[in-house]
Amino acid sequence: MNAVVELERTSIGMPAESSNRSRNIFSSPSKITPQQRELRNGHAGRVIWFTGFSGAGKSTIASELERQLFVRGRNTYVLDGDNIRNGLGFDLSFSLDDRDENIRRVAEVAKLFVEGGFICITAFISPLRHQREYARKIFPAGKFVEVFVNTPLHICEERDPKGLYLKARSNQITDFTGISSPYESPIDPEIEIRTDQCTVHEAVVKIRDYLENQDAQMEPMI
Ligand code: ADX
Repeated sequence: MNAVVELERTSIGMPAESSNRSRNIFSSPSKITPQQRELRNGHAGRVIWFTGFSGAGKSTIASELERQLFVRGRNTYVLDGDNIRNGLGFDLSFSLDDRDENIRRVAEVAKLFVEGGFICITAFISPLRHQREYARKIFPAGKFVEVFVNTPLHICEERDPKGLYLKARSNQITDFTGISSPYESPIDPEIEIRTDQCTVHEAVVKIRDYLENQDAQMEPMI
């Protein structure tokens, strides 16, 4: 890992003592290269990184994207906020520091999937720009595709599929994104989905088209 990423890692909030725990580590290289995996799979590994408010539609679009890619023979897997917080992130709260750590863990897991040749789809609020930039930096250029699921807060609140906005407004939930915790919109995402202007299927087609164009521009591997 290079020095720049190491610096970013501490700036996202990783406790200093964790770095000490990771001394005397010798990684063993794989005998299979990412290129060999991509050649066998017939497609590139990538992370499709969704961001947006709770209730914006990230999970809905992510799971339909996964389905459509899967039936087209792609190796794909969704990491979803609510699911991951039941396991890998069960010890984390919604403070900004713990969200940093949540995103750091998810980015590292996504990286393993991408190295394994998967199209890894992540659906996390990932509210702050530095979190998404941290994630972007641990992937090779072109492998990180940021998708802004742009649903205005008032629409997410009207939908309130889990009843959480109601609880946040009545202070039964603290640190709630958009209500009592910040959300920074992406400035230059690879893809923006305006959910008020397209269906789930149209959103998925837009992302699939982007991936197909990217694959078409890739250097032949043999
Ligand atoms: S993130 O900010 O760390 O990226 P993540 O995507 O894992 O968040 O989790 C968001 C989900 O947790 C929401 O969709 C919602 O169901 C639930 N949730 C519970 N409490 C909160 C909260 N305080 N803020 C946002 N989402 C919350």
